[in-house]
This record gives sequence, structure tokens and C-alpha cells, in this order.
Amino acid sequence: MRHFLTLADFSKEELLEMIDLAVKIKKQTKNGEFVPYLEKQTLGMIFEKSSTRTRVSFEVGIYQLGGIGLFLSSKDLQLGRGEPLKDTARVISSMVDMVMIRTYKQSDLEEFAKYSKVPVINGLTDSYHPVQLMTDYLTMLEFGKADNPVAAYVGDGNNMAHSWLNLAAILGFELRVATPKGYECDEAVVKHALEMAQKSGAKITFSNNPKEAVKDADVVTTDTWVSMGQEDEKEKRIKDFAGFMVDSDLMKLAKDDAIFLHCLPAYRGYEVSEEVLEKYADVVFTEAENRLHAQKGIMVWLDSKRGEK
Ligand code: CP
Ligand code: NVA
Repeated sequence: MRHFLTLADFSKEELLEMIDLAVKIKKQTKNGEFVPYLEKQTLGMIFEKSSTRTRVSFEVGIYQLGGIGLFLSSKDLQLGRGEPLKDTARVISSMVDMVMIRTYKQSDLEEFAKYSKVPVINGLTDSYHPVQLMTDYLTMLEFGKADNPVAAYVGDGNNMAHSWLNLAAILGFELRVATPKGYECDEAVVKHALEMAQKSGAKITFSNNPKEAVKDADVVTTDTWVSMGQEDEKEKRIKDFAGFMVDSDLMKLAKDDAIFLHCLPAYRGYEVSEEVLEKYADVVFTEAENRLHAQKGIMVWLDSKRGEK
């Protein structure tokens, strides 16, 4: 049995198998063909943080695969009143077929997975957002940007940046990360990504210079400056991120046919300008819809690994 906790747990071949499944199932869905790959299965969805896309895409996704999703807010679970995570994991996983969790600490997700009898999927932690990056790659593929792209990530060295590092390092493409001073990516995540990059041939570079990062890039991306749980730092962050907005002037430095990706929610006037978001709305909202399709690929792949070590 396999869990989906971070992209770093997978080989390039495995990630591409999931993407292939996503492409196939998306095509079937668009043709009105709902193949019950996960018939009568239940997906438990535990949320300790807010969500629009993750909740809707997982709930609709499992339903379209022939199963059902169970929305479990930590506010309502006994977990929120102090029931240990390891007990929650053993109880819930005895009744459902797969679990998705959105939480704070990656170590909590790992603890849950350790005690779970069924596959566990990371629906975002403070450290990573791997289902979003699978989605972003599917979107790059559809917009003709998956073949040896140069990608630029401009903004906070957060969970999204970390998953971008993993994706580039495993698949072997060029990624330039530009963060303000003091908001760099986690050192351990960077070290591991650079080790993986040596094997895959990925070129990963870091700077505090958005212009340098975006120059001639095929894909430009960013994320909120204030992630969930950082609301108290909002004012300081807005000051510290001055000059890091992806606006039309910055996009002009990228290739003429470059695309802009954003995991959403987007905060216009902060990490991205209104103009850029609307110019690339087709890409960005296809990306949002692709959460549904990418995650079906991941769930069906995980289901196929049951019984394996
Ligand atoms: N991109 C993303 O994960 O969106 P939600 O927070 O709405 O789930
Ligand atoms: N970095 C953001 C991503 C939201 C989808 C956060 O963690 O809030």
C-alpha cells in the first residue's frame, strides 16, 4: 500500500503513471463516460484548514469514480476536542477506503498515515501541496509546456514552492525560485531536491530577484504571500514582499507564449496583478478544474497499489 504524502516519495515513472491515468479519465469524463474505477469506495476528507478547490474536487472526484466522499471538519470531529490523531487514524481508516487530510504539520500527516490501514493523501500541509503540483503539471501538459520547460516561481518559499522543487527535481526540468530575503525555502527540502536533481538532470536555482527568475521562462507561477495560519504576519509580509508581484511588466520578460499558473485563491494587487490573472484566466481556471482530474489519477493509482508493500 502506498500513501501520497509528498512528491519526493515517488519516482518520475510513478508520477507520470498517475498523470497518464488523469489524462485518460479526464477524456472519459468529458465524453460523459463515468467509469466506476473506485466503485462503492468511501473517501474520508479531514480538513483542519479552509478549502474551496480541494474539498469540491475530491468530493466530486470520488463520486464520479463510483464512490462517495465524507467531509470531516476537525471542528466537528473529536480530534478537535483532543482525541489523539493515532486513534482517529485507526478508527476512520477501519471504515473508509482512502483518506485525504488537509492539516498544518507534515509530521501529523505522517503520524496519521503510520496508523492508517488505507492510503492517505496530502491535501496540503504547511510543508507541501503535492496534489496541486500534479494538477499544475497536467495543466502544463495540456498547454504544451511539459516538454523540458523553464519554470519560474516568484514569491514565498512555502508549501507550494517546496512542491515545485520536488516536481522539478523528480521530472528533471529547470526551476528558478525567487523569494524575498528571509522567505527562502526550507533548507532540508532544498537539500533533498538538489540531491534528486543530480539524478534527474533538473536545473534548480535560487535568487531574490524576480526579473532574473522570469527571464525567458515558459511557465511563471506564484502563490499567496500569506498562507493559512500566517494571518497574524499579514502586514509585515505585505511590506517584505514589495517588488514580488507578478504583473504585466514582469510577465513581459518571460517568453512570448509563456503561461501563468496560480493554485488559487489569488489575492489581486498582492502576489499577482488583476491584469495578469485575467489575461491568463483560461490557464488558471483550467488549472483549478484540473484538480478534479489529477486527483482522480492519483486515487485510482493508489487503489491499484493496495496489497503491494
Ligand atoms: N489551491 C487550493 O488548494 O485551493 P483550496 O484552498 O480552495 O482547496
Ligand atoms: N500557500 C497557500 C496555498 C493555498 C492553496 C496556503 O498554504 O494557504
